[in-house]
Order: sequence, then C-alpha cells, then structure tokens
Amino acid sequence: MHRNDLCWCGSGLKYKRCHLDFDEKIASIKLDPRRGQIKPPHEIIKNEKDIAGIIKSGQINNAALDLVADNIKEGMDTLTLNDMVHKFIVDNGGIPACLNYAGYPKSICISINNVVCHGIPSKDTILKDGDIVNVDITTIFDGYFADASRMFMIGNVSPEAKKLVEVTKKCMELGIEAVRPWHFVGDIGAMIQKYAHANNYSVVTALGGHGVGKKFHEEPFVNHAGEKNTGMLLVPGMVLTVEPMINIGGHDVYTDEKDGWTVYTKDGSLSAQWEKTILITQTGTQILAD
Ligand code: MF3
Ligand code: CO
Ligand code: CO
Repeated sequence: MHRNDLCWCGSGLKYKRCHLDFDEKIASIKLDPRRGQIKPPHEIIKNEKDIAGIIKSGQINNAALDLVADNIKEGMDTLTLNDMVHKFIVDNGGIPACLNYAGYPKSICISINNVVCHGIPSKDTILKDGDIVNVDITTIFDGYFADASRMFMIGNVSPEAKKLVEVTKKCMELGIEAVRPWHFVGDIGAMIQKYAHANNYSVVTALGGHGVGKKFHEEPFVNHAGEKNTGMLLVPGMVLTVEPMINIGGHDVYTDEKDGWTVYTKDGSLSAQWEKTILITQTGTQILAD
C-alpha cells in the first residue's frame, strides 16, 4: 500500500496519516516462529467507526445482562429468561447473535452447574436453590458484535460452588490484565492457568475466547491455558473476549449428542465462566462489554 492511498482500515484517511506507522512498528518486531508468534491480519484491526459500533452493541448487551441480574430467581424456567432478553435486545434495535448461529436454536446461552457452556434455554429447565448459572449474551447492533457473560448464584449456594464462581471471576480479571498492546495472546492463558491451578481447579481448553466485532468469532483463538510470549501479537485496534471456563474437577468436556450444543464436564464436576469483550488501545485496554 502506497503512502497516499486510502488506509486499509477503512477510516477514509490516507495511509500515511493512519496506519503506516502502525504497520512499520509491526514489521520492526522480530517474531519467534518457535513460539508460534505471528502478526495479526489487517481484517481484525478495528477503526474508530468499528469501535463506536461495538461500544453501542456492548451497551445494549450490558443492559441485557443487567436485566437478567434483576430478574433471575429460583423457580424460573430458563426459556422465560431467554424470551425476556430476546425482546429487550430487539426492542433496542439489536439482534441476538446466538439465534440461528450455526443452527443454535435460542437467543442466549444458559449453562447451569456441570454445564460448561452453550446450555440451551428450555421451559423444562427450572432454576433451583444452590444452582450456579452462567448467562452468555451476544448482541449485534449495526452489524457489530459484543459478547459477555456473568455468573449468577441462586439462593443458598454451597461454599465450594461460591468459591469456584469467585476464583473464575478472578481468572477472567487476571486474563484481562495480561491483555496489553505489543505483548502476546499466550500471556492471557498463562495468567489464568496459574491462578486456576493454584486453586486446584482445571482450565477448559477445548473451547476458548476469540476475536470479536465485525463477526461473532474472529481470530485469534484465545486459549485460557498456555505459555507467555506465544501466539498472535496483540496490537491496538484488536477486540477480543476473555472467557475462561474453569472446572472443579478435570478439564475434559463432552457435547450432548442429542442437542448438539450443550457442553458438560466429563466428570460431572461444577464449571463456571465469566466473559468480557476487550478493546486493545494504545496504552492498555478498554472494556466494551461486561
Ligand atoms: N457466546 C458464546 C461465546 O462466548 C458463543 C455462543 S454460540 C451459540 O463465544 F451458538 F451457542 F450461541
Ligand atoms: Co465469546
Ligand atoms: Co459469549
């Protein structure tokens, strides 16, 4: 690309006044192929307009999770929550991204106790005292995606379950602290794994976080376990999720054969997850959805 061409990012600015310095900085970094270090593709770098769109989508998504927080309670079936969130997102001009995504049948995911993720809301699934529940919502607004999930504790939760929920939240926060411009994606999993293992928990690696924004799932895959200084270089303008799934027992999981979606812990142990959408800025990070 020539200095006077319009920048590849779609800003409408000339390359020399937009991402030329950025590209030169990336080119100057010596990447180590033995550590799987790669540079990010241009397609996943967001411009100001993209970021504004993801912020707006994130605001709707956050409000949808707040609505869940205000309404979730013992005795409720999970389809009621699904329908409430669906209506809220649509009333606010958004689209629930999960609905029909790769054939997924509902608008959000609700994953209880030993369900790791992708639990399908149902009239037959009733929230009961002691449950730990992940509600994962993704909104599309003006073509932009924002993705977040939170844990909810129903009634009197056992100390073991409560600790898992709290440690998993801390895992997410530590993972987010590891998200820094000009560092590597592997730093995230290294931090999460260290804290999870210190608490005798395991980290699910069959699924992970992901780039997000113009699509639901973009590069890079964010492994929640791994090694520092490995994988994709993190640079300003990237948006990704940190969404550790942490198990009390082993890390192995399996997918329900009948519904094709629900992911369970193999040993039946409890699992928890928290997720935020994070923008990498020049100096650090900005939370776009939580
Ligand atoms: N929101 C999930 C994630 O964090 C993806 C759910 S995909 C669905 O990536 F199809 F199950 F909804
Ligand atoms: Co996600
Ligand atoms: Co999600």
